[in-house]
Amino acid sequence: MYQSRIAGLGKYLPENVVTNQDLSEIMETSDEWIQERTGIEERRHIKKGSGDTTASMGAAAARIAIERADLSTQDIDLILFATLSPDYYFPGSGVLVQELLDIPTCPAMDIRNQCSGFIYALSTADQFIKTGMYKNVLVIGSENHSGGLDMTTRGRGVSVIFGDGAGAAVITREEDPDKGILSSHLHSQGKFAEELSLIGPSTNRWVPEIIAANDPTDESYYPYMNGQLVFKNAVVRFSEVIMEGLTTNGLAPSAIDMLIPHQANLRISQFVQKKFGLGNDQVYNNIQRYGNTTAGSIPIALTEAWEEGKVREGDLIVLAAFGSGFTWGSSIIRW
Ligand code: ACO
Repeated sequence: MYQSRIAGLGKYLPENVVTNQDLSEIMETSDEWIQERTGIEERRHIKKGSGDTTASMGAAAARIAIERADLSTQDIDLILFATLSPDYYFPGSGVLVQELLDIPTCPAMDIRNQCSGFIYALSTADQFIKTGMYKNVLVIGSENHSGGLDMTTRGRGVSVIFGDGAGAAVITREEDPDKGILSSHLHSQGKFAEELSLIGPSTNRWVPEIIAANDPTDESYYPYMNGQLVFKNAVVRFSEVIMEGLTTNGLAPSAIDMLIPHQANLRISQFVQKKFGLGNDQVYNNIQRYGNTTAGSIPIALTEAWEEGKVREGDLIVLAAFGSGFTWGSSIIRW
């Protein structure tokens, strides 16, 4: 059995910065409210006509990750694409990335696990590498939220939180058994499926049905979030799944060099930091600048932490996520 390790990281953020002040000019909200509840100061929104899409942002992040891994696009054996905002209803965005990267053919798979998407994809990559089936797996998390949010006062509880962007990682075979992804831990609880969801359009609510109803009060095609329930579950599940990962590897919280939590909400990250007694230099947050980019958030944050020299050879890196499904997971990595 092989190990797998992250050999290259990349990110792509659309240029267009949307501040809390910008939002307060189109809906009833304020910089103070948003910062106090979420920590977010600004986020990126794709500008119409810029050409940025979920797949194109993913491909841009992937090109950087592949180059940093000292590989070429032709070395990629499998593409795993995590998103809740794919370019099309079908096919998935993974095949679009394969074409954008000029890879003639390779398997490409989309992973539909929202905020936990990157952790699920990373674990899937790890399994394929461990069995020896593939050597280099490209894992992408990318989201284009902005076009689908209710940018009126009605949707403010959700729309101020989310931003667009992509991150990518190349996962590669590693011979050293003490290095790379030590373990992955995945969970879901469908009982809460509708508490953080976008119900229509879907096979449950087809487009012709929505059009025929012609109901201006219909909100089913906007994301819905039961914010307080999400918060309460997030803090418990984040803590549980980090502890599960540490215990599996016989490690104590003090062994963590860097925790990179999914950037859901700064208050959630701070709660987890406090719970594990970690210092500010042991938890990476960039939600202040990008908002919540769902499947993109961990690879973007991991890329930035690495670029800033905060992820070093030999470090114990913990990735953890919680989100819609509910789904949650963690990955324990010896860099
Ligand atoms: N600006 C101003 N006021 C707002 C806004 C806004 N953007 N959004 C909601 N309000 C108002 C509400 O209308 C409500 O007004 P009312 O008291 O007159 O009815 C008031 O603020 C309080 O609303 P709540 O929804 O109760 O606010 P809460 O304190 O719960 O904060 C929040 C909302 C920030 C979403 C919080 O519940 C939270 O952090 N939840 C966690 C969810 C989360 O982080 N999700 C991230 C995405 S999911 C994930 O990644 C896991």
